[in-house]
Amino acid sequence: MNERITEFIRAFADALEAGTFVKLTLGNYKGTDEHLQKIFLRRITTRKGERMLFQYRYDMRDVVKNYELDEARERLAKYLDSGFRNSHLFTTENDFQLDIGKRNARLNKGKPTFRKLPQKHHDREKHHLIDPGSEYLRALGVSSEDGKIRADQRDKWKQINKFVEVVDGLIERSGLIGKGEISAVDMGCGKGYLTFALYDHLVNNRGIAATITGIDRRADLMETCESIAKACDFEGLNFRVGDIAGAEVGSPDILIALHACDTATDDALAKGVAAGATVIVAAPCCHQQVRKQLKPPTELAEILKHPVLLERTAETLTDGLRSMLLESRGYATKLFEFVATEHTPKNNMLVAVKEREPDAEIANAAAELMARYGITEQRLATELSAQAISA
Ligand SMILES: C[S@@+](CC[C@H](N)C(=O)[O-])C[C@H]1O[C@@H](n2cnc3c(N)ncnc32)[C@H](O)[C@@H]1O
Repeated sequence: MNERITEFIRAFADALEAGTFVKLTLGNYKGTDEHLQKIFLRRITTRKGERMLFQYRYDMRDVVKNYELDEARERLAKYLDSGFRNSHLFTTENDFQLDIGKRNARLNKGKPTFRKLPQKHHDREKHHLIDPGSEYLRALGVSSEDGKIRADQRDKWKQINKFVEVVDGLIERSGLIGKGEISAVDMGCGKGYLTFALYDHLVNNRGIAATITGIDRRADLMETCESIAKACDFEGLNFRVGDIAGAEVGSPDILIALHACDTATDDALAKGVAAGATVIVAAPCCHQQVRKQLKPPTELAEILKHPVLLERTAETLTDGLRSMLLESRGYATKLFEFVATEHTPKNNMLVAVKEREPDAEIANAAAELMARYGITEQRLATELSAQAISA
């Protein structure tokens, strides 16, 4: 191996030994994997001890793994020998830049960009339940290397905290908190920000043995989420590819469906009811099914001739009907404003806690309301009518 490369690997090992390692980046990849672009290395502390986290950036997704420090050194040597032409090592004493050419390599040593090690834990900002320095937030790109929330992720950050706060309140109210073990399914979990945060909160703040499964039809996202969960040693958190309508959910205590499209929200709610989930949390996205059928009653025809008002009425009716239908199955519901995201400006949140007897009268009232607005089909109503009522 070229002497400069050996020197660079030694600087990496020395920095680990001396506790001065900040981070390392491998780039300018010219190897045989057509999708691989960069690798980022960060030192993390897991329940099993000190590890090096490798975040592999492919063109369409990230994959995250952690390795013991000795193995990290071997892997670095292997990657420098298999196509990465450039690497930056940052320590609190020096920055090192390695450039590998066809015949030789150049190593530059300069003043350190970072004079302090990245903080592992951060003081939680006022009212925030989640630590912005959490490793999964870095891996998901919500916070930067130094554990600060990225400027363009502030809305997401607000949403994450609000979501955890809401679910925490529901866990208290429903009595699930006394169970000691809680299972949850997050349907249409996407990039998993909320799924990770809930797991982190339940396990690390509340000390609950949580088992959470994120489900989404996007295989690339599920692969990234699963790798981050493993790298963070979040043993009870897993992700799998699946369609909401067909997914096997078992019998979770909590069922979550946030910003899943149109009737996918109804499919998730129906699964929650069928599974007997104690808590259901949904943030409906679009409301196309009802919007397409809606025929305003005569007395509202003049008002609802305006498309914007018709649209809002479809939203109100869809979410209102969902709430009534859940109540007819023994859930107490609340609908309130959640924090909107880049996914959707819609920001209703519907939460339901199973704490009453089923009430067929409410289902009848919902059916009357549908008829009054010319709605012949609403997915949740259809799915619940095919399900036996359980107390
Ligand atoms: C707008 S994202 C929301 C992600 C996450 N729940 C959140 O609120 O941050 C919607 C996600 O739902 C997934 N999705 C929509 N319909 C689905 C379906 N029928 N089955 C599985 N996943 C679905 C999409 O792939 C996408 O990742």
